[in-house]
Amino acid sequence: MRLGYEKFNAAILTISDRGSRGERQDLSGPALKKKLLEAEIFTVVREQIVSDEPAEIETVLKQWSDKDQVDLILTTGGTGFSPRDLAPEATAAVIERPAPGFAEAMRAESLKITPHAMISRAVSGIRKSTLIINFPGSPKAARECLEIVLPALSHALQKLAGDPSDCGGS
Ligand code: MTE
Repeated sequence: MRLGYEKFNAAILTISDRGSRGERQDLSGPALKKKLLEAEIFTVVREQIVSDEPAEIETVLKQWSDKDQVDLILTTGGTGFSPRDLAPEATAAVIERPAPGFAEAMRAESLKITPHAMISRAVSGIRKSTLIINFPGSPKAARECLEIVLPALSHALQKLAGDPSDCGGS
């Protein structure tokens, strides 16, 4: 069981062919990290950039969930319609229990900001004791989407860690 004063371990995976070749600076990973740290309940223990290759994405997601046992993985990029946007497929391949609410909430709330929100195919789900959530690739979109799901993360991760208490309260 996680104690009240312990922080959740989070990991951030930037998915970008050009980023992985050093041809584009990763601004989205750092944007997500900044927001997570501002929430004051997360420690960011892993940060990496991979190409859009599904096998590469799956390898890192498995390593971080199975071996490193991080509480939360945020991926950014590769959720759109371009032929190489395969982050949702790679994520779905490693997810054991879908948790679609996070991706649904991101799309629903983001539609109030831009109709382009419906282009993100982001998915979310659980592998072992790790919650994995896809985010869109632009720093602006990533920030907006993290803002949307942040209020539910603490409770979700407590439950995932085995918190047996009743939900809901009064
Ligand atoms: N969601 C929010 N909140 N804000 C945005 O600006 N951009 C959209 C969408 N989701 C956006 C957003 C756009 S333009 C695209 S193409 C898709 O996310 C997919 O982005 P990705 O391919 O970089 O993952």
